[in-house]
Amino acid sequence: MDVEECLKEWEDLSADYKRLETVNKEYVTKLEEVGELQAACMKEITHQKYRMSIIANALKRFEKKGITKDERLAKLEKEIMKRKAMLHEINSTLPKQNSLYLRIILGNVNVSILNKNDKFKYKDEYEKFKLILSAIAFVIAVANLYIDFRPLQLILIFLLVWYYCTLTIRESILKVNGSRIKGWWRLHHFISTIVSGILLIWPQNEPWEEFRHTFMWFIAYISVVQFMQFRYQSGVLYRLKALGARHNMDITIEGFHSWMWRGLSYLLPFLFGGYVFQLYIAYTLYNISYHRDATWQVPALSMSFLSLGIGNTLTTLIVIPQKLNEQEQKWRQNKLEPKSE
Ligand code: COA
Repeated sequence: MDVEECLKEWEDLSADYKRLETVNKEYVTKLEEVGELQAACMKEITHQKYRMSIIANALKRFEKKGITKDERLAKLEKEIMKRKAMLHEINSTLPKQNSLYLRIILGNVNVSILNKNDKFKYKDEYEKFKLILSAIAFVIAVANLYIDFRPLQLILIFLLVWYYCTLTIRESILKVNGSRIKGWWRLHHFISTIVSGILLIWPQNEPWEEFRHTFMWFIAYISVVQFMQFRYQSGVLYRLKALGARHNMDITIEGFHSWMWRGLSYLLPFLFGGYVFQLYIAYTLYNISYHRDATWQVPALSMSFLSLGIGNTLTTLIVIPQKLNEQEQKWRQNKLEPKSE
């Protein structure tokens, strides 16, 4: 390239740059417009919610006064339910405020995912992350069953601290983006982070040697259960995606539910097996706590495993009737509404 050509190239490039500037200006304007539209939508949602709450309160008062619910009122109640679901859908397309936990960890960065496809991808990635880490934990736990090598034990425990800590962050992001994950599962992962932290500082003494094998078996067991959970959760996720709209599927709902119950009936026995294992660990640690060399970590872990076992059992027991209820409601809705709606 000679000097002339260089200058000519630069001129051409400058013309291209003008085009870039125009496109960028348009983009920035649109971004500002998006911000304004988002704010307008939020305002309208608040307005809808406020006026709906006034109508709902009036309906409650009618009921208290003993006014019989005629066809018009029954229709109105149904319309309110539908509107709530629609507002939920609209809300999922708008940015949300971070939870306190995320604000502390990440600062006030925007973690809202506004596109349904990206939401799906993030959730899918979360499930795959759990699967991969469980596979690694399984291998190290089994290795620890055969090899007595303290660094390998510490690697596993450190991996667990990092894993559970990461889960709490990812789950908080999922929650901001509309996931209905129950508070207990999130708390469960917070407690598991603490449990792993305590295990990390448990000195290598006789009580640890007594407990070590049970713990490694437990990690191997829950890794296998995690694999089953992954198959169930990703099955649910892909089916809901295939149905087009998550939390809003009425046409093939029966097919979805029959698949879900089949998945659950296969998974639940193994989950309850895990909870019995957690309670057994709590009991084992309780016995070890009487050992003359037992440090504070032993009773603390015993209490933690007890609370995990009880919390998991109760939450899973609550989930089943809730799902039955949800299913009945959907069926009823499905029967009442024409399918083309
Ligand atoms: N961890 C993370 N997310 C969970 C979860 C868990 N344990 N259980 C449910 N969720 C999520 C679901 O993916 C769903 O997310 P979405 O709103 O983004 O779609 C939401 O919470 C609501 O799920 P829900 O309909 O209540 O239950 P489900 O059908 O997805 O799963 C179980 C039901 C019982 C299979 C599931 O809760 C589970 O696997 N629990 C056992 C966990 C456990 O005990 N682990 C320790 C093993 S020792």
